[in-house]
Amino acid sequence: MGLTPPFMLKVRVTLDGAPRAGVTIFQGGIEKPIATSDANGEAVVEITPRPPGEALAVIASDPNARTRGAELNVNHVINGVDLDFKSLATQDNEAYTFRNASEIQGQREGCAHCHRNTVEDWATSAHKDAASRPTILDIYSGTARTVGADSCATFGGTMTSVQVAGSDEFEPTCKVANSVVEASSPTQPFGDCANCHAPAIDGKVGGRDLLEARQTGFHEGVTCDACHKVESVDPSQRPGVGGWLKILRPSEPWPGLEGEFLPLAFGPYFDVSTFAMGAVGRTHFVESTLCGGCHQLENPLPSDASPELRERWPEGRLPVHSTFEEWKASSLAPDIHCQSCHMPPDSEAINGITLDHAGDEDLIFDRINGWPRAPGTVRKHTFVGPRSPNSEMLALAAGLSVLNQRVEEANGTRTLTFEVRVQNKGPGHALPTGEPMRAMILLVGATCGEESLQAIGGDVVPDFGGHLDMLPRDATSLAQAKVGDRVRIVARSEDFHDYNGFGRFAAGVLPAAAKGIPQDEARPDATVTAIKGGKLQFDRVLQAEEFYFRTAGAEQSDADTPPLAGHPGFAFARVMIDAQGKPMVSHLFATDVRADNRLLPGESFTTSHHFASTCESPRVWAKLIYRPHPYALVNERNWTSSDIVMLEVQQ
Ligand code: HEC
Ligand code: HEC
Ligand code: HEC
Ligand code: HEC
Ligand code: HEC
Repeated sequence: MGLTPPFMLKVRVTLDGAPRAGVTIFQGGIEKPIATSDANGEAVVEITPRPPGEALAVIASDPNARTRGAELNVNHVINGVDLDFKSLATQDNEAYTFRNASEIQGQREGCAHCHRNTVEDWATSAHKDAASRPTILDIYSGTARTVGADSCATFGGTMTSVQVAGSDEFEPTCKVANSVVEASSPTQPFGDCANCHAPAIDGKVGGRDLLEARQTGFHEGVTCDACHKVESVDPSQRPGVGGWLKILRPSEPWPGLEGEFLPLAFGPYFDVSTFAMGAVGRTHFVESTLCGGCHQLENPLPSDASPELRERWPEGRLPVHSTFEEWKASSLAPDIHCQSCHMPPDSEAINGITLDHAGDEDLIFDRINGWPRAPGTVRKHTFVGPRSPNSEMLALAAGLSVLNQRVEEANGTRTLTFEVRVQNKGPGHALPTGEPMRAMILLVGATCGEESLQAIGGDVVPDFGGHLDMLPRDATSLAQAKVGDRVRIVARSEDFHDYNGFGRFAAGVLPAAAKGIPQDEARPDATVTAIKGGKLQFDRVLQAEEFYFRTAGAEQSDADTPPLAGHPGFAFARVMIDAQGKPMVSHLFATDVRADNRLLPGESFTTSHHFASTCESPRVWAKLIYRPHPYALVNERNWTSSDIVMLEVQQ
């Protein structure tokens, strides 16, 4: 060796043997480029000193080839360095087997061999379970898989032979609804689910049956080797892999390793020349468009859609996921990308690999281990979100405040009135966002001492908050009602809430009546006194505008997703409905979006509430809940799903 920088060095770059202009040249360990090759494929660069323990190297990066590098010796200083690129094979290779995150597979070790922390972080994320999560499989297969043969009939289902996910076997399973395949159109026979949920199914990319996922494709869902095979992004194409996300799997044989192909990984860095990676830098890893590939989805309107529906959705598509577009329209775009919040900087990381002996004096940073990176460059692969254990995400996402609390006395009765403001304070997109099954539910109440006060007006949680039945639609299920049941009474007015929502629900686009949230008002509860001829009678006469939500029994149970329809409060959601008007159905069965009052970044919404007070200074409480899965689906499919309290205030 005996090299003593600084010194000048000539670098010559060729691509497939021809001089290559415009190649970016780095010195190992210096993250900013030091030169670009000229028309002759040459550059003269100054090599500067590096701290002890760091090899001296030059690295060259070209978008059409695997990054190349050389560790320097005396010969290089005298004669210059030649870096010869070979063009990437541009044809995706269907014979490639997606590599897994942690195990040895064939002759290759899993990513965890060198990226242990990254794999551990990712393994806690929802991405890992994207193809194997029971809720997703239940919707896909139309099943309630935890319901046994003895109780299937009570769920309105029949035991049917259904393919076991991740395998070729079939098993008797409680089937309660159409599967995606049964409900899909010929142009999307598998509902495109696998394009986002199982991007690592071997073979043809895109348009696959979710139940074709096996091994890595099944157990690892949105896995390392899927994201890092994304060669380019094209938001004008169908979401997921095979469209928006263009996958490129290597086809160059690996000399000496029978049946293996040369390594290939697209990533955020342009200076990784480790042979094990076959790295190619791509800017989409530091942009939201990569995430947008699966976090943006619209469904075509049903082919038999009415003229009214076509007028409501002039582009002929219903929004399903719009996280990417919500973010794009926000003031955070483009600088504060999805990664900023969902892949927080890893302050401990020295570079992109996990070095067991970090700090070890003998450790050499070189072309095999890579070079140290500025603190905060490397990001955690936690994809932290509402479902991450112990994340503060939900608490930081919203603001909740009680305003204008006052008691007014008239004719000897006291009325407590207050407003509640809910604000989107955190996310760079709507709150909630993502899967349209999500809802944010506001519950409010008031007390005098131990006594809960009766609501006599103000906003309420709408139907999709959950109920056993309601008047008059569910007359058939009244058989279960009992004398003595308390019901929540709500009065419907002719008026509708207006709000500034996303897309067609933005302020001023549609009249309030078309935005789907009637100004329902709380009324005092009533008690069932008799059941006659399929009709409930109450301890008071219901007015024409009044109707009820029966929740009795279910709400006392310690249900993790209790029925909340008619409770004083409100709710925020994109409400997708099916042809029968049933709210919060899975997107594949949706024929319309009834309402979408999710809070856009920075926006707030204020509700108002009235209670009959029995004291001079009642206390008020408000609670904001994140509900991942709607009440009706949880009960239809026997899911285990828990509401999460985001914020609570009392005053
Ligand atoms: C454009 C990509 C994309 C497509 C296509 C897609 N999904 Fe999803 N799906 C997602 C994303 C992203 C999430 C999670 C978003 C979130 O956390 O809010 C999700 C969440 C879900 C969930 C909620 C899981 C849970 O327990 O919370 C279910 C169920 C689901 N998808 C089923 C399906 C089915 C069935 C299909 C096909 C008909 C499908 N998805 C098509 C991207 C997609
Ligand atoms: C959902 C897509 C996605 C998945 C899945 C994914 N990555 Fe990444 N990865 C990214 C993005 C985006 C970046 C760029 C982050 C940045 O630096 O801004 C990245 C960066 C990296 C880097 C560079 C260093 C760093 O962490 O910033 C490594 C190494 C890496 N990923 C390895 C992995 C491994 C190993 C797995 C599987 C455990 C994995 N990735 C799974 C999207 C993904
Ligand atoms: C033998 C060790 C080794 C294995 C196995 C390995 N990597 Fe790497 N990888 C590295 C090193 C070293 C770097 C450079 C780290 C740096 O410079 O920050 C790297 C960097 C990366 C990068 C960043 C590349 C860029 O240019 O932005 C990605 C992405 C990546 N690895 C993904 C993977 C994936 C996915 C797997 C499993 C399929 C994997 N790696 C397996 C050693 C390995
Ligand atoms: C400024 C920080 C920030 C940015 C930028 C951001 N998010 Fe989020 N995201 C959050 C917070 C906070 C939550 C939790 C509250 C919620 O669910 O909306 C969240 C929630 C989510 C969820 C879960 C939704 C649910 O309830 O199931 C998904 C999926 C998501 N974000 C994807 C994205 C994508 C994709 C982008 C980029 C297009 C992005 N986020 C940009 C902060 C951010
Ligand atoms: C190949 C498709 C795909 C890509 C690319 C992708 N995601 Fe996802 N993402 C999903 C799916 C599918 C789910 C839902 C998985 C589930 O419910 O198991 C999801 C869920 C999430 C969640 C919800 C986590 C929670 O706790 O509820 C967040 C946050 C998220 N993704 C962020 C990102 C970010 C940030 C990126 C870009 C770096 C990204 N995703 C890229 C498919 C993808």
